[in-house]
Formats: sequence, C-alpha cells, structure tokens
Amino acid sequence: MLTTHELRSKYIEFFVSKAHLHHASDSLVPNDPSLLFTSAGMVQFKPYYMGTAIPPSRRLTTAQKCLRTTDIDEVGDNSHLTFFEMMGNFAFGDYFKKEAIEWAWEFLTEVLQISVSRLRVTVFTTDEEAYGHWVRVGMPENKIFRFGEKSNYWPANAISDGPSGPCGPCTEIFFDTQPELAPTPDGEWDDARWMEIWNLVFTQFNRQDDGSMEPLPQCNIDTGMGLERTATVLAGASSVFDTDAFLPIIAQIEKYGHMTYTRSQSAVDIAVRLVADHVRSTTLCIADGVLPSNEGRGYVLRRLIRRAILKGVKLLGFTEPVMVSLAPTVIECLGDIYPELNERRTHILGTMKAEEDRFRHTIDSGSDRLNDILSSEDVVNSKKLDGAVAFSLYDTYGFPYELTEELAADKGISVDRESYDQAMQQQKQRARGASAIASALFGNQTDLKHLPALARSTEFVGYTDEEADAEIIMLLSGTEAVQQVGEGERAAVILNVTPLYAESGGQVGDIGTLSVVNGATLPVLDTKKVDGCHLHLVDVTSGELHVGDKLHAVVDSRRRAAIKRNHTSTHLLQAALRRVVGEHVHQAGSQVDEERLRFDFTHTSALTPAEIEQVELLVNQYILDGTSLNIVQDVPIAEARAMGAMALFGEKYGNSVRVVQVPGVSIELCGGVHLNNTAQAGMFKILSEASVAAGIRRIEAVTGWGVYSLITQQQQQAAEVAEALRCQPNKLVEAAYKLNETRKELETAVKEMKAQLASQNVDKQITEFHGLKLMVATQQNVEADTLSSLADQALAEGIDIVVLASDNGEKVLFAIKLSDAAIKVKLHAGNIVRNLAKMTGGGGGGRADFAQAGGKDATKLPGALATVPTALEAMYQA
Ligand code: SER
Repeated sequence: MLTTHELRSKYIEFFVSKAHLHHASDSLVPNDPSLLFTSAGMVQFKPYYMGTAIPPSRRLTTAQKCLRTTDIDEVGDNSHLTFFEMMGNFAFGDYFKKEAIEWAWEFLTEVLQISVSRLRVTVFTTDEEAYGHWVRVGMPENKIFRFGEKSNYWPANAISDGPSGPCGPCTEIFFDTQPELAPTPDGEWDDARWMEIWNLVFTQFNRQDDGSMEPLPQCNIDTGMGLERTATVLAGASSVFDTDAFLPIIAQIEKYGHMTYTRSQSAVDIAVRLVADHVRSTTLCIADGVLPSNEGRGYVLRRLIRRAILKGVKLLGFTEPVMVSLAPTVIECLGDIYPELNERRTHILGTMKAEEDRFRHTIDSGSDRLNDILSSEDVVNSKKLDGAVAFSLYDTYGFPYELTEELAADKGISVDRESYDQAMQQQKQRARGASAIASALFGNQTDLKHLPALARSTEFVGYTDEEADAEIIMLLSGTEAVQQVGEGERAAVILNVTPLYAESGGQVGDIGTLSVVNGATLPVLDTKKVDGCHLHLVDVTSGELHVGDKLHAVVDSRRRAAIKRNHTSTHLLQAALRRVVGEHVHQAGSQVDEERLRFDFTHTSALTPAEIEQVELLVNQYILDGTSLNIVQDVPIAEARAMGAMALFGEKYGNSVRVVQVPGVSIELCGGVHLNNTAQAGMFKILSEASVAAGIRRIEAVTGWGVYSLITQQQQQAAEVAEALRCQPNKLVEAAYKLNETRKELETAVKEMKAQLASQNVDKQITEFHGLKLMVATQQNVEADTLSSLADQALAEGIDIVVLASDNGEKVLFAIKLSDAAIKVKLHAGNIVRNLAKMTGGGGGGRADFAQAGGKDATKLPGALATVPTALEAMYQA
C-alpha cells in the first residue's frame, strides 16, 4: 500500500523526469489580499499565467498545502477536508493539452498501475481536442463524458459567473470506488461511486470584470491531484480517514476520548472525522502565521478550533485539552514535509492552548448564564427563546449561537433565529454609527461622496517636494462646497497640487502653511483624505479664502522628517521582528507620527528581554548600515508580489502599487513618505512592548530626536538621583549597592537593640532546679525572633533552662532553650513546649535543646507557666 509520503514523492519524481522544476509549497496564507487562503496549487503562480512575472522554469511541479472552507459543512463525511495537499504540474506557454493528458495517463496507468476499468474522464462540452487526446491514449469512448461549465471549467462557472482572472476548460479524472458493483451503464453517472482525483485545467483566458474572455498571452496548464483522495482509492479504502494521513490522529482521539472509532455514520464517528480534519488544518494554519481573531483568516481559524473543541468535549468525552493533545501528532505526521511545523511547534501549541482556555472559559460562563435563562418561567412555559437573548450571550460572552441552540434543544426549547439575525444587524449598524462619529472629529466631513470629481483631482507631489505653487479648486465649509470663507471660519481647502501628505496607512497627515499670494499665511492644522478628497484643514485667522486663489503650500519639514524616520523604522522593525521572533509576525496595525511609532503585530506571547534587545540591535544595525531606499511608483501588483513585497492582510490595493524597498532588509507595499537612506533615522529605541488584544502585541518606539530626548531625560534623572545619593552619576550603581548594604546593617542593629531593650525589661525569675539555673519569664508582645534571641542571651549568661513566653493580650508565644547540662539530665525543650502550648490552646514541639510554639489563649499563660517546675521534675533523671 502506498503511503501519502510515497505517493507525493512519486508524483514529484514523475514530473521532474518530464523536465519540470520542483517548486516548494507556498504558505497557506497567499501573498494575495483578495484571497483568504491558498486554495489550489496555481494560486502562487497567478502572475505567471497573466504574463506579468517570469517563472523560474516554464514547467513546474508542486505538492501544495491547501485550505478550503467552502465545503465546511460536509466535513465529517468520508471525503471532504478543509486542509488537504494538492499535487500539480504547471506549464506556462509550454506544453498544452496533448502532453498534459498523455502524462496523466502514463502516471495513472503505468506508475500507479491503475487499471483502465477503474477510470473515467469528463471534458468540457465543446473541447474536441481534449476528447481526441483521451481517445488516442486509450480511454474507451464510453468512459469519456462531456459536461458544461459547472463541472468542466475552472474555476467552476467562470464563463457565466466569474470570478475574474485566469481560467479555462478542464478535464477531470474519476476513480471507481465500488468496482464490486456491476459496471455503471454507459452514459450514467453516479456521484457516490466515482471519486474525482485529478483535474487538468487548460488555462487560456483571463476573464474580465465585464465577463468578456480575453485570451492569455500564452496557453497554460494547471493540474491538481488530491493527495489524500488518491491515496485513499489506491488503498482500496472508501474514506480519506482510512489513510496514513489520518489514522495516527484518530488513534490519539480514541486514546484521549476513551472511545473506539467504528467508521460509521454515527454522530460520534462524524465528530472523530471532523476533529481529525480540523486539528490538521488549524495546526498548519497557525504554522503559517494565522492567529485566532474575529475577522478574516483569524475568524476561520477560530471557528475551526472552536468546532473541534465543542465536538471533542461534548461528543468525544475529552477531559484533556483537545487541540494540544492532538496537534503534536499532526506535527509528527507532516513535520518532515513541512519543517515550519517543527520550527514553530511551541508557537502552535501555545496559540492553541490560549485559544482553548479562552473558549472554555467562554463556554463555562455563557453556559451558566444560559442555564439561568433557560430555567426562567417564561422560557420554560413558552418553550421558546428570544433570539435577542442568544445574541446578547454571543455579544457579551462570545458564546456561539450554535451552542445556545444545542443547549436549548436539550431542554426542548427552540431559539428564534430571525430575531437573532435582526439583533446582529442592529449591532452592525451601531458599529457603523460609531465609526462615523470618529470621523466627525475632523469637522463634519464624514461623507463627501456627493462632491464632483474635481474634489478628487488633487495631484500629490509630496514624495519629492515639500513646497508647491497651487490653486484653491474647492473650499468646504462642513460638507458643503462654498465660494469663499471669511475671517474666523474653519474650512477644508482642496488644491490642484499639494505637497502635504494626507493621513493614511497609519501615517499622520502633514501640517504646514498656505500662503495666499498677496494675502495671509494660514497654518494647516491637519491634512486628511475623506472619500478620496485631499483636505487641508485651516482656521482662517485673517483675510479671506476664495476658490481660484493662488497660493504657496509648504510642508512643516522638520516634523515631516521626524515622521519619515519613524515610518522607515517601522519597516525595519517589522523585518527585525520577523527575523528574531518568526515569520508569523505580520503587521496588524501601525501608527506613525512625529513623536513615535506604534507597531501592532501578530504574536501570542510577550517578547523576552533578550528578544527585545535583539530586535533593537538589529534595527539599529539596519540604520547604521546606511542603506539607500529604493522606492518605485506604479508597479503592477502582480510584479510587486513577484518581487516578494509584503502586502497587508485584508488591505485592498489598486492595480498598481508603490513598492518601498530597503534592499536586503525589507520590501513592502506602502504609500507613506520615507527617508532616502536608513542612516537618517539616527537611532532606534523601544519604549514598550505589551499586549493589545488576543494574539496581538504592540511595540512603541522612538527614533532620531526622540532617542536624543530620551537619553537627555534619563541623564537628568540619573543626575537627580546622584544628587540625592550624594555621589557622581558614574558611581550610581556602587552607591545603590552601598545604600542597600547600609540598610541591611541598620536593620540588624535595630533588631539587636530591640532584643536588648526587651531583655532589660525581663522580669527575671531565676530559681534553682537540681543545681541548674532555671529562668521562667514573660514578655509583653515581642516577636518570635526577638523571643528566641532573648533566650540565647539568657543561655549565654549562664542560665540552663530558659522558658520564655510572650503575651500579646490574646495569643502567646513560647521559646525554650536548654544548656547541655540540662539535656544531660533528660530535660527536653520540645516536650516542655508541647505541654505549655497545649495548656494555652495551641500545639507544637521541637528539639531537645530548642523549641518554639504558640498558644491561642493568653489567660491560661500564668497557670501554664506555674506547672513548669513539676513538669521538669517529671522528666528529670540524674
Ligand atoms: N486549479 C485546479 C483545481 O484547483 C487544478 O489545479 O482544481
């Protein structure tokens, strides 16, 4: 039986033997903001199909990690998976249908030795060429089926429905999973019986947004063979879960769930398959830098983890954490193929543990609350739960709707989905309202969509120039366009040309001045972009502004320089973090102004002091290397990606982008203003590193003058401390140690003095006991330590039997010390103290020479002490 590892190798070897270059699998997180996950082998090659980048070879072959959630509801059956591997061969303007079909045939029938009787193929209705090639290689004609764009175009329905991008007709290869049944009658198709294992796509067109099909510059091949499915059919199995890709995981599930998987369709067995699938996909996903969150990829990951936990706990009887119990097996199974699994093992398990802890906490607190609600009279009587209540559980506790529904159903109560959806809708509207309020901080220009195109025609020249002659093309008072604004009014000015950068991409807007020709010079308080309009906010402190006024716009250049230092350093910081902390680090937000930079990034645990130091060192190294930046405008997005530019997740980019490169260090898509050379940043210092949200850390740092003022401040502080300690600033450490020592010495001295003072107050009753000196004494309210040193002192003064008590009015303490002579006659401090403690309501004991104990009832003390001589007598043996 072929293992998945063997099958993967055979496929790659076969296509390498046909002159294909073996290319590594891409990350599950594609460098393509329009896609959540890599869902097919061709995703990383899109620019090669479009002809916007040049492939390293015209023939490539891969085994690609893929994640698809379109069929998530089917997962748990025998063939659907969220994570799977897709093997593929790809050609760009090289071979086409003939070779693709011939090699597929050779691989299936000769390498894998599959009998033709187990195979069937489909072709696109009008694809005579593909049909002809199948006949020629030896596929009987009654096994070739013709289907339309729904099944034989890739992506499916691309002709009528899109999506836009590279596409083409395909031919699919199916395997008979039930050969024991009678041959399927000619022309009949049974989905359950025929499993699709391989899809050969003839990528010829680039579908346009308007639906037209533009031929690509060349004819291409994109094939995809499902690794797990093919391994399944080759093993004669009917479920992907019966292959070596899943059996070790299922064995662990059986172990932790104390149950047996019976391959049935029972809810429990479905849950086993679902958990096995989800633990694979989530492990791989986290290894590629995705972290659980409430949106985008992070949300998909969170949902997968939560589904697995719920099934694991509720149906499979897990008492141990579900995810971290199983993920190590996934790492073991796939770690050889995907080394990132081993490299990021701690990160993967840490992320899963944190998410599971959080979710279990959510379930616990939400369940308690829900149970209260479900037992309320109203709900019990009506057997109905208002969806708004389910929503508030979700909103306040993150308690999933599905779980509310399930727990309610256990009690025969139904949940009103409609009112749940309504409440969710209202919440979304409120959130939108809140963001509108935020933008209202900038005057009230919250919505400028009504303004004509002219309002969006400003040419920005600020990447190269810090001043420009310009003309006012529009004036806004509030959201309304006006012809003029007078003294004392606030206005937003739109210019034909401006050097002032408008806030975006986390970089603050410029400030500066507008000097009207033959008029006043007005300070620009802020520059913002609202609905594509480049607005300069000014208070007209003197004179008037009119549409058509000519003016000279100048950027506050010092401030701009400080902003640039922080912005370029943010790129350096990201590069350093990825090196020191790991490739999973991605920007999750950034804020750059003249004073500092703030960078949020994906990472689950706090950075260690050593990591922070390393990051800081590396950024300063990049700065001091004095590397000149290479900034290129208007790069086609595909080309930028091919250069390796890091795009922000979830961010939308136009067709052409600006690439900011610090050669050898970082390459990012960015519209901000930057230094010419890293050395201009001066120096970089991290101020703080903290958590801002689950899985997101924040670093705040300063550069240039910021570092200078930090040093100056710290120097001043040091000088003040030195003055207070009366030493030179360079002797501060020494002085601090000395201070500490002196303090310790003083503390010891104080303790001794206290004991001495107390001893002077001891009401010494010294008597004789068989030639030994016995002292029984009571102190008022001294601590155990002092009592013990008092006893020492008495011993040193020649007393043989020291019995000391301290009375604080409520409780008592005892310290007994005996000389050697006293021990010799069998007196025992431990036994003496035991009696005394007992008589005063306490307990304790100790050694023969020294014992301490406490009692709880001080009123019993005099009586107890009075028994000492008798007690000694009882022990005494001369
Ligand atoms: N892109 C095609 C698919 O995903 C073939 O690789 O099916």
